[in-house]
Formats: sequence, C-alpha cells, structure tokens
Amino acid sequence: MQQNKNNNTPKTQNSIRTVLVTGGAGYIGSHTVLELLNANYNVIVVDNLSNSSKESINRVEQITDKKITFYNENVANQNALDNIFASHPQIDNVIHFAGYKAVGESVAKPFMYYQNNIGTTLSLIASMKKHNVKNIVFSSSATVYGLPTACPLTEDMSTSALNPYGNTKKIIEEIFIDEATADSTFNVALLRYFNPVGAHHSGLIGEDPRGIPNNLMPFVTKVAVGKLERLNVFGNDYDTPDGTAIRDYIHVVDLALGHLSALEKLYSGNCGVVTYNIGTGKGSSVMDVINAFIKATGVDVPYIFAPRRAGDAPVCYASVQKAKKELNYTAARTLQQMCLDHYIWQKNNPNGYEE
Ligand code: UD1
Repeated sequence: MQQNKNNNTPKTQNSIRTVLVTGGAGYIGSHTVLELLNANYNVIVVDNLSNSSKESINRVEQITDKKITFYNENVANQNALDNIFASHPQIDNVIHFAGYKAVGESVAKPFMYYQNNIGTTLSLIASMKKHNVKNIVFSSSATVYGLPTACPLTEDMSTSALNPYGNTKKIIEEIFIDEATADSTFNVALLRYFNPVGAHHSGLIGEDPRGIPNNLMPFVTKVAVGKLERLNVFGNDYDTPDGTAIRDYIHVVDLALGHLSALEKLYSGNCGVVTYNIGTGKGSSVMDVINAFIKATGVDVPYIFAPRRAGDAPVCYASVQKAKKELNYTAARTLQQMCLDHYIWQKNNPNGYEE
C-alpha cells in the first residue's frame, strides 16, 4: 500500500517540505511563495498566467535569492497536474489560489466562473488522490458569509452566496468538507480572507489589476499617482460613524504568513477540516482608508461621494480569536503601513509588471 505522504510521516526538523502552489504568480500567491521560500520551503508553482505575470515569480526569486520551480499550466489540465505530481513525489502539501476573483465579471459570466474555479479544484483533488497527497490550504473568502447580519464574523456563522464568485468559494469549501468527511486522512485548512491590501516592503511585488480596479486600495493608489482622476466613495449614508462602509483590511504579507501558520497546523497532525478567518479584527471605513493613505504617503486623494455600490455590505470585519488561539496567528501590520506599501509598489511600477 502506498504510504500517506502527510503528517503521518514524521519529518525531521531539517527535512525540506515541498509545497505545490496553484496560482502562485498572482497577488496573494506571489507574496505567499516569497514567505514560504524565506521559511525554507521548497516551492513549486503552477499558474497559467491568465490573470498574472511571470515577472512576479522572477521578482520573488530576486528578493529571496532562491529558485522556484515554475509550470505554465492550467490547473484544470489533469494530465499536466499528474505529470507535475509524478515529477515531484516529495510534494506533501498544496496551497490552492488559482481561480477567477472579480465579482462583477462572475455575475456577467457565471458559467466561466463555475467551470474555472470548480473545474480546477476538482482536477487538483483528483491528482492529489492519485498521488496520495492529503493536505491542502484553500484560498477562501469572507464573501462566504454573504451579507453579514452581525460583526465580528465568527467561523461558525452560516454561509451564503451573493454572486457566482462567492458561490464558487462556498461550493469549493463544501467539496473539501465532503472529501475530508469521506477520508479521515484528508486535511484541509479553509482560510477566509478579509480585504487584502498592501505589498511587500521591497516595492518589487504587488497587486497588478488589469484595467480599472474594482477594489478600493488599488483605485486609491492609482488616483494618488495620477493615473485616475478621483475616487468615487460608494455610499456615505451607511449606519456607520462617518457614513461610509467598513471593512477589515489586512496587509498581504500578514495574509501570506497566515498560510504558513495553516501549513504548520496541517503538518502537526491529522486535523481534518479547519476553518479560519484571516483578518485583523479591526474595521476601517472608506474615509479611514483615505485618511490613513494621506497620512502615510503625504499624497492627496481627490474623491467624491457617489451612490452605494449594489451588493455592498455596510460593515464586515472578522473575529480573529480562533486563528489566534489555534494557530497562534495575529496580523500585525497597521492600516498606514498597508497604504504606504501599496503606494510604493504602484509608484515604482506605474504599469504593474509590464515593461
Ligand atoms: C470585494 C468583493 C468581495 C471580494 C473582495 C476581494 C464586491 C461586492 N465584493 O470586497 O467579494 O472577496 O473584493 O478583495 O465586489 N469602494 C469605494 N470606491 C471604490 C471601490 C470600493 O468606495 O472605487 C468601497 C466599497 O464600497 C467598499 C470598500 O470600498 O465599501 C471596499 O471595497 P472593495 O475593495 O471592492 O472590497 P469589498 O467590496 O469588501
């Protein structure tokens, strides 16, 4: 019988762990790969660069002075995945980032979202089973809580979907839960991210949205560097202290480090399914973000108040007690640090990873 390559096989302290990272060239993926390399993991990335750039991988190698094994493949390509697992039998854990992530686009093209996000996950699970890899960290989202009825959000609250993107996250969580129920040696950490912003302090890697950004921080930084004229603040009539909506912004480096804490949990013993919010536990309004940005960078951000954006929750922030207690994990970086790092990345790379 094939031996299970998970935590049942005790590793010596010096043994190098090998992690397969899907979507490792993306925003959160590249920052996580960097932290994995810093922590001496051996990293294999599979990414088809459909919404990312190979340059992020080159830059991570430059920052860390370490090599990444990179495959330009679609995770939905079962043969390609099988070959990768077969070529690297030392892979004992997977971090699964690959997926589409734009809410509006998912409403316009639901089939594309279900096919891609769920299809890649099913291919990945099939390959993992074939190659007896039983540990995975999944990149989920706070979007699975639907419209929050009370904050802070705790992991035991009910889940629902507001759009096809959110539904893919919810369905994939359920697929992993069912797999782990059927196979007691299968371990999965579902990480529910709140609002990732910021960039590595080197200013060499960061978020590189194509076209006009949908999300707040990339929009603010593009206004600050003069690429966009002004920010529309969506809604100033919410029932919040300053009338603008509240979110839990987390520095992308802190978020990346959350994956390392989750890996430790998976390696520490059969844990089945574990679910963690990865946020700061602090809510900041849109006006708090604008003010922190101006304070951190000294650069003005022209804005006007605009109508609410459809589907936006007034308030959304995490309870971080479970991650703190079970993973000993806390996100440390401040909102001003997030703003400054995002700005430096944008300023140094006005066209993102493009030449
Ligand atoms: C959005 C997605 C969420 C996804 C997350 C990924 C929607 C409705 N939700 O979260 O599903 O998981 O991104 O990062 O798209 N804002 C402005 N002006 C702007 C842009 C945003 O005022 O130009 C406001 C929004 O109304 C919101 C806050 O800024 O109150 C944060 O918005 P955003 O960065 O888009 O994140 P979420 O909507 O929280």
